[in-house]
Formats: sequence, structure tokens, C-alpha cells
Amino acid sequence: MARKKVSVIGAGNVGATTAQRLAERNIADIVLVDIIADMPQGKALDMLEAAPIEGYDAGVVGSNGYDETADSALVIITSGVARKPGMSRDDLVLTNANIIRSVVSEVVKRSPRTQLLIVANPLDAMTQLAAHLTGWPRERVYGQSGVLDSARFRTFIAIELGVSVRDVTAMVLGGHGDTMVALPRFSNVAGIPLADLLPPERIDALVKRTVDGGAEIVRLLKTGSAYYAPSAAVAEMAEAVLLDQKRVLPASVMLRGEYGIRGVCVGVPVKIGAGGIEQVIELKLNDAELAALRRSADAVRELAAVMQLPI
Ligand code: NAI
Ligand code: 2OP
Repeated sequence: MARKKVSVIGAGNVGATTAQRLAERNIADIVLVDIIADMPQGKALDMLEAAPIEGYDAGVVGSNGYDETADSALVIITSGVARKPGMSRDDLVLTNANIIRSVVSEVVKRSPRTQLLIVANPLDAMTQLAAHLTGWPRERVYGQSGVLDSARFRTFIAIELGVSVRDVTAMVLGGHGDTMVALPRFSNVAGIPLADLLPPERIDALVKRTVDGGAEIVRLLKTGSAYYAPSAAVAEMAEAVLLDQKRVLPASVMLRGEYGIRGVCVGVPVKIGAGGIEQVIELKLNDAELAALRRSADAVRELAAVMQLPI
């Protein structure tokens, strides 16, 4: 059976690193697209030249156009401006909305049955925009947020307790931004609830560091934002789709009344497989958790209004 095609739009830090991770897993042929002349071609060739050493035979092609993306099984949209120190993800909204508009119109012409995995920020608003522009069912338009945010939470829990990250499970929902909703009640170490392992003030500190996790990296890098963990998160979602893994992961997706939210893209746990978002999972949240999730949805509504999107 032929390998599926994945197109990665934006060959910058997140896009190129995602392409590299997917190529090394040998699970798709990859098309890397960017507007910078020759750059995606150069990165694609560089990745191909790594293949004999790394032992993959996935195809990697770079382009400044979209013809090579035709009939993609999955299109990952990372094209956009990244944050600089002092900027919030929301500061990027109008610039990145224009980029998403042009990219989505090129992609859908050539891959009308594909799935879109949005990465550009502000993540939930860009997912909302892509859902609006395509009019596609929510199963096929979703965004990466909570896989990264819960990986950060897991990392900080593991450091705090001196245990392997492999034994830490954490759940982070809501918007990929300041209204992120980390859920200590749904986080544990080898099944032991977090509250049995740490005092409330330490849990609060880890939650705060998680919400600030993207900004912490921006402050250190100074010229851009995180990409190693983000690309790992994107690759995990892409693999779940390409290999029909039925993973239960958080993702930003249009809610249709779940959690009392309708018509807004926000991060919730989903089952993700070959059909994309195959199920939205409703956790039994308490009042405070539910209120926090609804605040996230309100923040997305505000950005939708800035983009003049109907909700
Ligand atoms: P980057 O600046 O390294 O790469 C962005 C690339 O997009 C550049 O190469 C640029 O030339 C390209 N681009 C711009 N307009 C384009 C267009 N119309 N068509 C094709 N390519 C275009 O930025 P980086 O670090 O890769 O981040 C990309 C986006 O992903 C940013 O918006 C960033 O905030 C977001 N991000 C989201 C994360 C998430 O968890 N959802 C995590 C990390 C980054
Ligand atoms: C992050 O969380 C910038 O959204 C990006 O690192």
C-alpha cells in the first residue's frame, strides 16, 4: 500500500521539525511548503540526505507552490508569525488570519477530502477560522494545543517528584493561551492522584508554570517560540490519524453543545484516528473546571469577533 501524503505548510521551526519527526517515523511521504524561495526545497533535500543514515525511505519534497500537495491525507498548517518576547499569542491574530485564509484556499482546491491540523497561533481562533472557511465537518478540522500543554504539565510534575515522565499522565484543556485549563484532578502518577503526592500550593505552582510554558521558552529563545515539544505534539496527533490509532488526546475542535459550549473551537479530550476527531469525550468537570473551560470559549469568541467571523 502506498504511503499516505502529509503536507506541512510553513517550513519554519515547527513545520520543518514536524516534517523531520514524521520522516524519521517513516509513516508518510511529506511535502513541505513555504513562501520563502528555495528554502523548503533546501530543507527537504537536507532531510532526504539524512535518510540513508537514519534509515527511512519516506519521500520529502519541498515547494513554494501547492500542486505537490494534491490529494494529501493530512495537511498540517504551521505557516504564521511566531511570538516575540512580550507578545501574547493573541497579538498574532490578524496577521496569521490572513496567512490561514490564503493557505486554506490553496489547500482545499487540491485536497478537498483532506483533514486540516492547525498549529498556527492563536491556535483556537485559527482553528475556528479554518473550520469557518472550509465549512467541513468538525471531524476534519482540528488544532494542536493540549498535547503540548499536557506534555509541559507532565514534564513539570516529573521534575517536581523526581519520577519518569513516562509514568505521569496529565490533562490540560481549554484554549492554548492564558485561559488554558490544567486539570490536576485528571492528572496522576502511575494512577496515584496528584493531590495525594503534592500539597495544593505546589500543584498550583506547576499549573501556573504550565500556563506560562510557551512564554517561558520565548523569554529564553528571544527570537522565536518553542518548536521541539510543539513538533513532537503535532507528530503524535498526525501519527494517530495516519495509523488509525484511536488515541485519546486533547485537541481543539468545534464543540456542538458538549460542556455547554456550541459553535466554538476549544481544547477538549477527543478520540483521534483515521477519521480525524472520531469522538469528543465529555469529562465530568466540577463547577470551577467547567467555568474555566467556558472562559476559554469566551476568549475564542472575542478573537472570532476581531476576525469578523460569525459564531
Ligand atoms: P517560524 O517563523 O519559524 O515559521 C513560520 C514559517 O511560515 C516561515 O518559514 C514563513 O516563511 C512561513 N509562512 C509565512 N506565511 C506563509 C504563507 N502564506 N504560506 C506558506 N508559508 C508561510 O515560526 P514557527 O516557530 O514555526 O511557528 C509557526 C506558528 O506556529 C506560529 O504561529 C506559532 O505561534 C505557532 N505555534 C503553535 C504552537 C501550538 O502549540 N499550537 C506551538 C508552537 C508554535
Ligand atoms: C507554545 O506554546 C508558542 O504556542 C506556542 O510554545
